[in-house]
Amino acid sequence: MFKLFLGLIDLAPQPMLKVETLGLRFRNPLILAAGILGLTAPILRRVVESGAGGVVTKSIGLKPRKGYPNPTVVDLGFGFLNSMGLPNPGLEKFMKELETLRDLEAPIILSIYAFSEDELVEIGRAVSGLDVISAVELNISCPHVDGISEIAKDPILVKSYVKTLKRHVDKPVIVKLSPNVSDIVRIAEAAVDGGADALTAINTVRAMSIDVEVGRPVLAGVFGGLSGPAIRPIAVRCVYEITESLDIPVFGCGGVETARDVIEFLMAGATAVQLGSAIARGGLRIFKKILKGLRSFLEEKGYNSIDDIRGLAHRR
Ligand code: DHB
Repeated sequence: MFKLFLGLIDLAPQPMLKVETLGLRFRNPLILAAGILGLTAPILRRVVESGAGGVVTKSIGLKPRKGYPNPTVVDLGFGFLNSMGLPNPGLEKFMKELETLRDLEAPIILSIYAFSEDELVEIGRAVSGLDVISAVELNISCPHVDGISEIAKDPILVKSYVKTLKRHVDKPVIVKLSPNVSDIVRIAEAAVDGGADALTAINTVRAMSIDVEVGRPVLAGVFGGLSGPAIRPIAVRCVYEITESLDIPVFGCGGVETARDVIEFLMAGATAVQLGSAIARGGLRIFKKILKGLRSFLEEKGYNSIDDIRGLAHRR
């Protein structure tokens, strides 16, 4: 009898955490954000083993790039300010690294940036046919690298960049938007007009910090991108505004640290969320901790899946 009872408990349906979007299957809505840990295959593998439903790589360009001199990161307590200067090994070398990840149980999204549409054409062609990559995320929104930070502010450029990439790549294109604009919906519309399949909102907030002892900017690059909990309400607002106007999957990104933060983004209309600073601060344990919290919340409230809560905050 006792055994039977236990069996019944086991059979109680667990709320479903999987996300299906862009023709891809993510086993849960927690995705590694670009720029954090995404530079080598063994680390990406560890992120997935730690529970991530998907991963976005570090932003990769056509050519190798050294990045800026130190200091490149400041921990402000309520978030990180960073200005790395897009350091990366270049596309050719990085694609070889990714080839070793064919058996990964989670979609790999390649983050890319380009200084011109010609570069974007080359990147798009090189990545096409590389089936270890499930989608590309176009970083047009790094807030401080000249030649990149201007793109996300100009709807004409955004549409043109996205259209060019779409024409030369055989994978879904996710466009990562900047919060450093007066009307993010207008930029989101331009990306959709260009053929974007999904959006990520948001990249970091352009910011700076000054060392008052020496009277100089802390970062060698002067300006940087602010991430972490300080920017979460901005990111939630952006996701809400975009999904209020446009019917396109949006990955929420910015200061996700707890299950409640994930739920907030989902209720704002996000399809899934990306985590960055919280991993830099608390390590990879965070994935399992958040997943446990998500399951408990859904069970307690009687929801069967995360699809049941998506966009709830838009009800009037
Ligand atoms: C960098 C790039 C980004 O997209 C960002 O949001 C912050 C920093 C960088 O490489 O400097």
